Amino acid sequence: MRVIAIDGPAGAGKSTIARALAARLGLEYLDTGAMYRGVTFAALRHGLLLDDIEAVASLARSVVLEVSDAGVFVDGVDATAAIRTAEVTSAVSKVAANSGVRTEMRDRQQQWATERDGGVVEGRDIGSVVFPDAELKLYLTASPRVRAERRVAEAGGDVDEIERAIAARDHHDSNRADSPLTEADGSTLVDTTGLTIPEVLEQILRLLESA
Ligand code: DC
Repeated sequence: MRVIAIDGPAGAGKSTIARALAARLGLEYLDTGAMYRGVTFAALRHGLLLDDIEAVASLARSVVLEVSDAGVFVDGVDATAAIRTAEVTSAVSKVAANSGVRTEMRDRQQQWATERDGGVVEGRDIGSVVFPDAELKLYLTASPRVRAERRVAEAGGDVDEIERAIAARDHHDSNRADSPLTEADGSTLVDTTGLTIPEVLEQILRLLESA
């Protein structure tokens, strides 16, 4: 099984790079953040209290999530746009801190890769917990300002406000008890500040050759 694990904070360029890398290597790509967003969307839709750990974990075990290039479908409902709204974005860290949710998502991610004999998988705990034996583990980052500017270029908004929101989410993701965002053992740090997408891709392909 050939797995490339890409972790890092919000706005580091993980999705863009993971998608491009998967295309270059002829592998499929999985955005695991979209899975946590999908569970959050479902929980809000069902009116669950996000502090109700058991109810949210139980929902995570039963929800039908389809995450692919075609979009994100939650129990058959097209949630591709809805999972990127401010409402879901501000709630997702709480859902992602729920251990029951994480156990279920991890199982699904491992099953996804087994079915395909590998893939490029992107998230926060992929190299540290989900695929510790991945062929290559990358930790992508960039300065907070640049990460906020990239988000504004994609989706609009005020750069100062988005920088603050990103910092708050990073803090939450890095300090939760279960599988926090961290640089995995054996991972390579790639700082994408000031680099173009082709430059980052070249750097990663060189790392793969020497791996
Ligand atoms: O990458 P993103 O912004 O779409 O991720 C959404 C949230 O999900 C983010 O707050 C971190 C969390 N997440 C996680 O805890 N573990 C992952 N493997 C992927 C995302």
